[in-house]
Amino acid sequence: MYKARIIGTGSHVPEKVLTNKDLEAIVDTSDEWILTRTGIKERHIASNGEATSDFAYQASLNAMEMAGTSPEEIDMIIVGTITPDMNTPSVACLIQSKLEAKRAAAFDVSAGCTSFLYALSVADNFIKSGNAEKILIVGAETLSKITNYEDRGTCILFGDGAGAVVLSKEKGNRGILSTHLFSDGSYGELLYMPGGGSARPASKETLEKREHYLRMDGNKVFKVAVKSLEEAALTALSHNDLTGESIDLFIPHQANLRIIDAIGKRLDLPPEKIFINIDKYGNTSSASVPIAIDEANRQNRIKKNDLILLDAFGAGFTWGSAVLRW
Ligand code: ACO
Repeated sequence: MYKARIIGTGSHVPEKVLTNKDLEAIVDTSDEWILTRTGIKERHIASNGEATSDFAYQASLNAMEMAGTSPEEIDMIIVGTITPDMNTPSVACLIQSKLEAKRAAAFDVSAGCTSFLYALSVADNFIKSGNAEKILIVGAETLSKITNYEDRGTCILFGDGAGAVVLSKEKGNRGILSTHLFSDGSYGELLYMPGGGSARPASKETLEKREHYLRMDGNKVFKVAVKSLEEAALTALSHNDLTGESIDLFIPHQANLRIIDAIGKRLDLPPEKIFINIDKYGNTSSASVPIAIDEANRQNRIKKNDLILLDAFGAGFTWGSAVLRW
């Protein structure tokens, strides 16, 4: 039986930093409120002219370099994103061209902040079924471009960037042990962007009503997020006959430090087993889990054979988990 194993990780964030102090000058908020309610200190924000594919490309180069993988070896590129450069072509096709990954199939997956885990699960199944040997998976976002900087309930949360992994078909017991995906579309309007699609194409009216920005009922999202992340994590643990205690590192979606703390308690995980970088990047949606994987990897927080639990939740609603033996 073959497994899909991560053989390289990479990430990239834009240079420009937006601190809580900077936000105090934009909306009625404070550094203290943002830090205590979310755990965020600053986030990286795209400059004019920078787009999602720019960050996805850099993160991919870093992951491929670590993996020692050339563009010709890549069978497939899957990008998880809710902020593609444009509706079509996909970000995956844009980076396929830049990377000159001439043999690769390429497509995007859109599942809110869970997009990277959805992409990881699709890739895992392509590899396990024998239909691919090396897959590049990217989570990349430029949320600042769809963030309403007049809405203090959302603009303090989001940041931009990308993370990437190279998955390889391998024999043995290391690699992805399980993935579990969930959705409930009845929650859609708690977190959505009304304008710019086929239902409400861009018009003078949609622009005036600021429909091209994310809208969120943060408080309701918070409650469902905690419940769903716990469900996904517990499903992953029981599927593998594991308990929280056997997990070496928990890498959750970085949406809110209070959400992460709540899940950590419910899984009985001590703080040193939970990877947190929300203070530096905010919520980067699809990019958050792969950026965290790359940082944990480069900081030597992960050792060979460690059991890693990934957990994410996002718009849709969607949520999911994965267990890896590193
Ligand atoms: N600064 C100061 N005060 C604020 C701010 C702000 N930035 N934002 C809201 N407030 C005020 C509110 O107006 C409210 O005031 P009131 O009591 O006078 O009415 C008070 O603070 C409390 O507001 P809540 O919305 O109840 O605050 P909460 O503690 O829920 O924190 C937050 C808000 C941070 C948005 C939180 O709800 C959250 O993190 N939600 C989950 C977000 C998330 O996980 N999203 C999922 C994925 S995102 C994706 O898929 C793209």
